[in-house]
Order: sequence, then C-alpha cells, then structure tokens
Amino acid sequence: MTSQSSDSESDVTSATDDGTTPVPPRSPGTAEFVVVANRLPVDKEVLPDGTVRWKRSPGGLVTALEPILREHTGAWVGWSGIADSDDNPDIEGVEIRAVPLSTQEIAEYYEGFSNATLWPLYHDVIVKPEYHREWWNAYVEVNRRFAEAAAETAAENAIVWVQDYQLQLVPKMLRMLRPDLRIGFFLHIPFPPVELFMQMPWRTEIVEGLLGADLIGFHLPGGAQNFLFLARRLAGQATSKGTVGVRSRFGVVQVGFRSVRVGAFPISIDSGELDTKSKSKEIRKRAAEIRSELGDPETILLGVDRLDYTKGIDVRLKALSELLAEKRIDPAKTVMIQLATPSRERVDSYVRMRAGIEQLVGNINGTYGTVGHPVVEYLHRPVPREDLIAFFVAADVMLVTPLRDGMNLVAKEYVACRSDLGGGLVLSEFTGAAAELRSAYQANPYDLDGVKDAIEAAVQQSPHEGRRRMRALRRQVLTHDVSKWAESFLGTLAATHETRASADRGVQLVAETTTPAADTADGE
Ligand code: ADP
Ligand code: G6P
Repeated sequence: MTSQSSDSESDVTSATDDGTTPVPPRSPGTAEFVVVANRLPVDKEVLPDGTVRWKRSPGGLVTALEPILREHTGAWVGWSGIADSDDNPDIEGVEIRAVPLSTQEIAEYYEGFSNATLWPLYHDVIVKPEYHREWWNAYVEVNRRFAEAAAETAAENAIVWVQDYQLQLVPKMLRMLRPDLRIGFFLHIPFPPVELFMQMPWRTEIVEGLLGADLIGFHLPGGAQNFLFLARRLAGQATSKGTVGVRSRFGVVQVGFRSVRVGAFPISIDSGELDTKSKSKEIRKRAAEIRSELGDPETILLGVDRLDYTKGIDVRLKALSELLAEKRIDPAKTVMIQLATPSRERVDSYVRMRAGIEQLVGNINGTYGTVGHPVVEYLHRPVPREDLIAFFVAADVMLVTPLRDGMNLVAKEYVACRSDLGGGLVLSEFTGAAAELRSAYQANPYDLDGVKDAIEAAVQQSPHEGRRRMRALRRQVLTHDVSKWAESFLGTLAATHETRASADRGVQLVAETTTPAADTADGE
C-alpha cells in the first residue's frame, strides 16, 4: 500500500466519526478534479424542429467556474436544464457527466426547495420562504444522485469541488461513498444570519451535510462566522447514534477526529480577459453604435441582471422615476438600458416580480418617453457576451442595486471593461462586492433617497473624480481575479488535507480565515 492509501484508511475511520453508517467505497472514475454544480456550464435547448442546441447557462456561478475548468482539466457533474435528459454535451477538455432530473424533481428540488425555500431564506427573506416536506425529500434524493455521480466520476484521492446551495447535502453523502476524496464546498450566495437560518426545519441536516467537506468557503467573513456558530450549536447535538462532539475555533470545526476548515474566499471574474476584449476595435465600434442607435444621449444608465427579486431592479426604476419627476434627470438627454435574463420563470415570486418590473418600465416610458425615444430600453433575454462587453463600455453609469447579493459579478465585469477610466458604478451596500469596491457610489437599497443621490452623483461626477474612482476600482478587480480565487480556495483545501495528515502524526492544528481586500481610493 502507498502512503496515500494509508491516508484514505484513516479517512474511512473519520467518515464514521460523526455517527453515520459507513458505506463500502465505490470503484473510482478517472477525473482528478471534479466540479459538482446543479447546472452544467451549458444549457440544453430543443428547438421546435427537434434539433438540439447548447447555450451558456445563466448566472454568476458558471461565469466564474468556466475559466477554472479551462485551467484544470477534469470533469463537471451537473444538470442540463431540461427534464429527463442525460445527454452529455461535448466540451473540449472537460468530461461532462449529466445528472438527469424528472419533471417532478425539477418542480420539487429545483423550483421548490432550492429556489422557493433556500434562495429566499438565504437572501434576507425578501420573499417568504416556503417549507414543504415533499420538497425536502426531493432535495435529499437529488443530492444523493449528485453524490453518486460524483463518486463514480472522481479518481482515487481526487479533488471534488461541490458548488452552491442546491447541493449542501452532497459533501457528507459523498464522504460516505468515497472517504478517499478531498472535498471542498463553496456557497455562491450569502449565508444567512443565525436567527433566520434557525427557521429551517432541516437546519441540522444541512449543517451536517456541509460538514462532510474538508473546506467550506463563503464570500464574506460574516457568512463564515454565522456558519461556525451554527456548527457549534446544531451539529454537536445528541443523535440516536450517540453524541457527536463538535468544537470550532479560528475557522476550524472539529467533528470527532476530523477537522473541517471554514473561510471567506471572495469570488471574482476573469478580469484580464474582459479588460483585453473591451479594448478591441470591434467592441469600441459596437459601443459607439449602441450610443448612436439610442440617439446619442448625454447619459446612458445600464442595469444587467438575471430577472430576480434580489437584484433590486425595481429599486433603480423607482429611483429613476423620482429623479425624472423632480427634474434632477432630463428625459431628453438620458436613456436607461435594462438587460434582464429570464430566470426561474415557473416560480410564483418570479412571475409576480416580472409583472411589477414591466409595469414600472411602462409607467416611466408612458410618462417621460416620446415616440421613438423611450427613456427605458428593456430587453428580457440574455445578450451575447461580446455585445454585453460593448454595453459595459458604452454605459456612463452602471446601476447595481440588489437588496442582497452574495457577490455580484456584474459590478466587477463593468469595472474590468473600463480601461478608459470612464463611467461610474452605483453599488448596493448589500452586495458582497461592496466590501471590495469601496470607491463605487455606494447606497442602501432600502433608502430610496440615498439611491437617488448616489445615481445623481455618478451622473454628475467630474471626469477627474470619475477617473480617480475607476482607477482604484480597477486596481482591485484586476489584481483579484477568478484564478486567484480558485488558487486560494484549492490551495487551502490542499493544505487542509496536509494538516490532517500532520494531525494524524500528532502535529498541532493551526488555521485562520481569509479576509477580502478592498480597493484603496479612499487612501489615495
Ligand atoms: P447571479 O449569479 O445572481 O446571476 P452575478 O452578477 O454574480 O449574479 O452574475 C451574473 C452573470 O450573468 C454575469 O456574468 C453577467 O454578465 C451575466 N448576465 C446577467 N444578465 C445578463 C444578460 N441579460 N445577458 C447576458 N449575460 C448576463
Ligand atoms: C446564481 C446561483 C447559481 C445559479 C445561478 C443561475 O448565480 O448562485 O447557483 O446557477 O444563479 O440560476 P439558475 O436557477 O438558472 O441555475
């Protein structure tokens, strides 16, 4: 036996430290690095004539992980976005393992427990989370299926990186199937305050599910702190199989003889790539065309989001409407573009929110637009990546106003595209990005007057002030890109494993949480 296999032997013992029944290890696959996410990087679409098209999946998770998988060859386990499909799309350098979901599982696990229970609970209960036992049962069942698919894909001692709130039970399930693996988990959305999390009827199961990982990552230190508190409070309780000791300190949770490290790893984007693309002649030309197609307005305001109630699209529309009514913004010289990717369209709260937003757009255009010149240009569809970059280059002010957002990659994308040091960023304080992007015009999205002042200040900023702020924002975004994020997470995961091996040899554990840096304009 090699020293690696003796490591796995000690892991077999540790997998049962938390009182769970050991399951015989499965035969391994061949991938040394496996991403497990609810979504595959591409979404399957069946056209009316029956032909199949694969398009980029929506959302920030795929934006962030796509470049990582280009760097680390490996496998991606996920769902194709439609019912009962186990087609594996061809993506160069990536082994794709589709996990099929039935129509009922989509309704109960994805639309139900993931997006009508967890999503609102983790986003400050902006809408009321619904708790249904059949949704929970489907969540457990589908998480088990993902864990089995990952177990069959990963090579011996491979690294498996589980992503996001849809798969919080996978780390523990996977550890039981494959104790040899190094398992990381990253939550792409906020982890809620303790008082809110305690509403969850299955709170202990979720915390224990996550504790199956060797490393659990959050965007911000606050999320990591909340989780550490809950792990102490919930996971140490007596179970029918006896009491499991859980202690936490300095970002390490001790579960029996196993250590789980917990930390903050603020995610980012491939900023270098966007910076380069945004400087190209074609993009510059397209940006100029956009301005001229809009009738050469003095100011272009831009919003780019999935159509989600967390994004505060209504907040920015209400702010704009009042600024127009108060004549602080001139409708003849201003256009706001709102690009909105359709999202979770069968979930009730999304249906209601869409109607509200489209009504606001209609009201503003009805009141302040003229024939052929609406004040708000609203597109309810994803735009191609190159076009999106041109929109960022064209926009004088970027409006990012979520009521709560784990990070918000759009804010960072805008900054990465402004090598000309033009433009201004209005940014909600309640985004993860606000911790780093201090030189944005920040506002509390619940304070409409504050949002209006921030928008007005960004519209009226002097070129000198704009350059000063954008320079500081860009320094932050260009030096903290997504490969740094992945290196930091995966490096810590590797160290966790080494620390565990050292601990087995009697060496003392030492650990600390990672904290996000911030831009430095204020100190300039
Ligand atoms: P979330 O992950 O909640 O959707 P993020 O802001 O973190 O929010 O990430 C959204 C990603 O989706 C970004 O990469 C953004 O560029 C992309 N995106 C959002 N809206 C659109 C759109 N209308 N067209 C194309 N891409 C979009
Ligand atoms: C956010 C979530 C992701 C999710 C994405 C798109 O970024 O953190 O996990 O994939 O939104 O949402 P969808 O429900 O379409 O996958």
